[in-house]
Amino acid sequence: MQETRAAITGIGAYLPSYRLTNEEISTMVDTTDEWIMQRIGIKERRILKEKGKATSDMGTEAVKQLLEKTNTRPDEIELLICATITPDRPFPATANIISRKARLTNAWSYDISAACSGFVFALTTAAKFIECGQYKKVIVVGADMMSAITDYTDRSTCPLFGDGASAVLLEPTTEDVGIIDHMNHTDGKGRHYLHVKAGGSKMPTTPETLQQRMQYVHQDGQTVFKYAVSRMADVAVDIMKKHDITPDKLAWLVPHQANMRIIDAVARRMKISREQVMINIENYGNTTAATIPLCLYDYENQLKKGDNVILAAFGAGFTWGSMYLKWAYDTNK
Ligand code: UT7
Repeated sequence: MQETRAAITGIGAYLPSYRLTNEEISTMVDTTDEWIMQRIGIKERRILKEKGKATSDMGTEAVKQLLEKTNTRPDEIELLICATITPDRPFPATANIISRKARLTNAWSYDISAACSGFVFALTTAAKFIECGQYKKVIVVGADMMSAITDYTDRSTCPLFGDGASAVLLEPTTEDVGIIDHMNHTDGKGRHYLHVKAGGSKMPTTPETLQQRMQYVHQDGQTVFKYAVSRMADVAVDIMKKHDITPDKLAWLVPHQANMRIIDAVARRMKISREQVMINIENYGNTTAATIPLCLYDYENQLKKGDNVILAAFGAGFTWGSMYLKWAYDTNK
């Protein structure tokens, strides 16, 4: 009999309605639509503008939609893991708040902080609880409100990021589908190149840190770009080779959406065509932990049961990883 695997059996998502266009960004900093499209490939991003709303609100909407789509009662969920680097507060975990708001009365929950690799790391972790036979229904949320930590006076970072959330349901399967393997990595030397400087135990917030705008994302873009291309391509090619997935056998690459040039470079290294790559960066920008599940959500109708799918991510830390799965269902919408 086939071993028990964890399979994604549904996806929900939430995107704020406000669209921050390149034209509007050009009124805030010295940039142009042409520069942003050529160097990054983003046209607009969604921004959570409603006063008092936070990452948990987006995550909750994604979870509610997921439960509805999959005909799942909230009390059936046993565990919820939320990947985020923009929690509502330093503590308690945003996952706890989502669980409460979505009425997951029987679930325990916690956050995972792995920046743009957060969804892949959280999915890896969640899959283990299913594979070992302990749980039957686990939710993984990728949610980030990047506008809360983006400096809209810094032209080198503010065009990059957007807000959004997506959630997947994981259930056991003994069919030849589901999550087959992962290859995840971290290297803490990357902490120097992409980070928020203040607001943690190393440098608590003071009037001085605020004045120096240290509560926002700082990035050495060129260094991060270089590592993102090489590490993401390496790990995606490694998992392809390990499982003998030649380019013609791959249905979809689902890459983290940070920069169109990074996505193209990874696809080239994997020797696959753009038609095999899920891309929505133009519409949402980099939503950090939400990019990969938002791609799955947008392409759900095109995914077919048995499709070979590779997820690939790279982010702050540095963190990076890939996952190989066979898609578990056909969508009849
Ligand atoms: O999610 C994972 C983490 N993030 C990433 O993977 C992002 C990785 N990095 C990148 O995507 C790119 O490095 C950026 C998009 C951030 C920057 O693109 P770049 O091609 O590496 O630009 P650069 O930093 O080398 O800057 C080139 C020029 C500079 O001008 P000079 O010094 O040549 O005169 C910048 O000042 O472009 C200038 N520049 C801009 N010009 C217009 C930087 N930002 C802008 C801008 N508009 N928004």
